[in-house]
Amino acid sequence: MTPRQFPATRLRRLRRTPAIRSVVAETNLHQSDLIWPLFVIEGDNLKQPIGSMPGVFRYSIDQILRQCETAVLLGIQMIALFPKLESDKKDAVGSDALNPNTLICRCLKEVKAKFPNLMIICDVALDPYTTHGHDGIIDGEEILNDKTIESLVKQALLLAQAGCDILAPSDMMDGRIGKIRNALEENGYHDTIISSYAAKYASAFYGPFREAVGAGKLAGNSGKSTYQMDSRNYREAISEVSLDITEGADIVMVKPAMPYLDIIKEINNRFDIPCFAYQVSGEYSMLMAAIENGWLSEDAAITEAILGIKRAGACAILTYFAPLIAQKIQDGQI
Ligand code: PBG
Repeated sequence: MTPRQFPATRLRRLRRTPAIRSVVAETNLHQSDLIWPLFVIEGDNLKQPIGSMPGVFRYSIDQILRQCETAVLLGIQMIALFPKLESDKKDAVGSDALNPNTLICRCLKEVKAKFPNLMIICDVALDPYTTHGHDGIIDGEEILNDKTIESLVKQALLLAQAGCDILAPSDMMDGRIGKIRNALEENGYHDTIISSYAAKYASAFYGPFREAVGAGKLAGNSGKSTYQMDSRNYREAISEVSLDITEGADIVMVKPAMPYLDIIKEINNRFDIPCFAYQVSGEYSMLMAAIENGWLSEDAAITEAILGIKRAGACAILTYFAPLIAQKIQDGQI
């Protein structure tokens, strides 16, 4: 690095005008950086608000199709679909996850029929389907690893069959990526992408999402900390990612995003596959609460939060702000 000295160097020269600032900008947002999570419910012509996520709704399948149209017009390439089941569909083992006609499978088929080029990413996990709200099958307080994987493999195949482009195992069971990859290969789904939630932390920031998918109060006293990662850990995230890559993940994910920017950066430096980051519900709600109170400026705060995630090394970001940011990009405001 050349030594720099004032006044030969005045770093402010490159900050003087909007034009020079954008020419030398190191990070830029594009619509293809944005993955838009959408919540789907049973019914017709429904758009239900989610109390803790102002501006985010649950949609019936017909309304999801309208949102997809918006996504396409805005240049968004990928959506993430999450089902909210009616409570009588849930049970202790998450049986409906293995029903080929379950809500998410019907939604996938309808979206793919109308928008074949819009990519869809779906969670592989049992929590929307279980009465206790855990991502797996439980025995007392224990979440059973290998038994859960048996269900996850079946769920993954059903999602692939219904047209899901990207499977995102978000359950954090050990060894599930390998088992899912083998099953996909054996069943001819050679091109189905696996985006593993490799570094998924047991986080307080998922609270509003739990309301969105009607997860209710979690059974047991340890939350999800016997399977999701401990927020004190950094090197463990590297182990999770290397295992998942060895087992057949095409993409890895970090979640949440803002409290874990160091993890995104480290993964991006060490590994040669794409890394997605999930700006989760609590990050959204936190910003929206401050914005609605007039404590933060909407445009600047949201853009800065998302740019930070990209600058840390995320190649795409799951964010509930996706349509808003895409619109701003389209209007030349970002
Ligand atoms: C399910 C899942 C969760 C989220 C995405 N998939 C919740 C959890 O693991 O408890 C959270 C997303 C968000 O908060 O926006 N495994």
